[in-house]
Amino acid sequence: MSELLACAVDEVAKGAALRVELAGVDIAIVHADDDNFYAIHDECSHAAVPLSDGEVDGCTLECWLHGSRFDLRTGEPTGLPATEPVPVYPVEIRDGSVYVSLTSSNGVTR
Ligand code: FES
Repeated sequence: MSELLACAVDEVAKGAALRVELAGVDIAIVHADDDNFYAIHDECSHAAVPLSDGEVDGCTLECWLHGSRFDLRTGEPTGLPATEPVPVYPVEIRDGSVYVSLTSSNGVTR
């Protein structure tokens, strides 16, 4: 699938996450502490709450409900109680905008 415009770069402060919907898919756009932008499916693999409401910590996004952290590069949880990865999507920055491709880069589907 081709890339979709998600948001402007300056809509997401460093250390924050923004929930967007792209083609019916809820995505958390994260401006991580390493200055890169990441796109991760906005649903925890443990109990399906929005990850965009959680805290950004380094290159992870922490689920606010039970505290599992998901690596924004791989979608893998780095700690319990979640055990399943979440889809992550390729991001491209062009002309001050964040574009996301909805083909997951870690092979995980929703
Ligand atoms: S709902 Fe996310 S860790 Fe439980």
